[in-house]
Amino acid sequence: MATVVMLEALAFGLERLSAAAGRLGVDLVLLTFDRAYYSRQLQRAGEIRVVDVDTFDADAVRHALDGLGRVDGMVSNTDTWAPLAEQLASERGFPNVISQAARLRDKVWVRNRLVDAGLTRLRAVRGSDWAALPAASRPAMAVVKDAAGTSSKNVLLAERQEEVEARIAELVERGVPAERVTVEPYLCGPLYSAETYTTESGTVLFGINSRTISELPDFREMDLTFPVDRGGAWEKEIADWACEVLGAIGRGVGPSHIEFIQTASGPEVVEVNPRLGGGHIGEAVLRVTGVDPYELLLVQALEPRLEERHVAAATCRPTAGGFAQVLKYASRTGPLGPVEGADVLSLFPGDITWTPLKGPDTVIDSVADQGACYGFLTATGPNPDTALSRALAAARHLRTSASAP
Ligand SMILES: Nc1ncnc2c1ncn2[C@@H]1O[C@H](COP(=O)(O)OP(=O)(O)O)[C@@H](O)[C@H]1O
Ligand SMILES: [Mg+2]
Repeated sequence: MATVVMLEALAFGLERLSAAAGRLGVDLVLLTFDRAYYSRQLQRAGEIRVVDVDTFDADAVRHALDGLGRVDGMVSNTDTWAPLAEQLASERGFPNVISQAARLRDKVWVRNRLVDAGLTRLRAVRGSDWAALPAASRPAMAVVKDAAGTSSKNVLLAERQEEVEARIAELVERGVPAERVTVEPYLCGPLYSAETYTTESGTVLFGINSRTISELPDFREMDLTFPVDRGGAWEKEIADWACEVLGAIGRGVGPSHIEFIQTASGPEVVEVNPRLGGGHIGEAVLRVTGVDPYELLLVQALEPRLEERHVAAATCRPTAGGFAQVLKYASRTGPLGPVEGADVLSLFPGDITWTPLKGPDTVIDSVADQGACYGFLTATGPNPDTALSRALAAARHLRTSASAP
């Protein structure tokens, strides 16, 4: 039996990984510093063995790997642990683990590389280089954010050029060094994400997710629906563009989640995550396209040469035409309290599923970013629009004492 190790994992999907491991006859081991983080998922993920280890300590992880006997492959599907996974893969010869992880996490490098390749128009500049930038090269409206950030933390809007310096200082005060701050033009238009998988045969686009973003000054993701414009000309255009984007930054084999804004003059990259999309994006791909991206992660960890035929082999019959997710947020800080309204969800159409993320005693310390999200509601439908309408109708009923104005 082949053994595959996951170096931490995303907040969702362990049940699907467990099921895939069972089907493929893989011994799947999760290395984690925080078993409790996965506890809700692990209750339903019987095929996964969990090993507690400080995953921030490379030597501790090496020691844990040594204790497992023969290990055939590694799944790296997070932002934080990708550089360590890359290091371990090079030491131990695990196939198809990420390469150049640190560079891919640098939003300045990614954007400017894509400008050089003619795939995005507008350059980013590091916070530490802002003062030296000629006024004519400064964007009128800018986003000032952590170039290695996640979860919409440390994303600030500067509505005028003159505000940029103060925004950089604000991030530095929060502990983000100026050379890790990116200042980039504020992109006008709706946000989407392209969900892709790259094999030696090329890149396939699973589909495009929509986004609604919270009111300013925050940048919280409120809802998503999938797959937008399936089979349409725009989807084809994005498929070609995404393929070029991944080639230009040297992504290599594996899943990618490309966030972009569709501006009046075409798509502009926001960030490229070399992993599956977060939340229930993997589930959306599975339900709508029939391709099981979780199974693919395991196949990728074991196959020396991943090809398009492996994607075809990981495909079953789709079970929905559209899949939507609504993220529920606390709107004030303090203890979350119990979530009410879940009892009526079964009355709503769309195979509604509610996945709580936090217990009632959880203390919410900021409502400005995704950390205030207390759960995800999902719905299916014959198409993405109907799935989203259904999800929004049901999600209104979920309330906590921390969501009162
Ligand atoms: N240049 C930009 N123009 C407009 N909105 C942006 C820009 N950069 C980021 N955002 C907004 O901020 C959000 C978070 O930024 P992102 O780079 O995706 O960080 P994270 O890794 O935290 O998701 C995006 O989803 C988008 O809504
Ligand atoms: Mg993002």
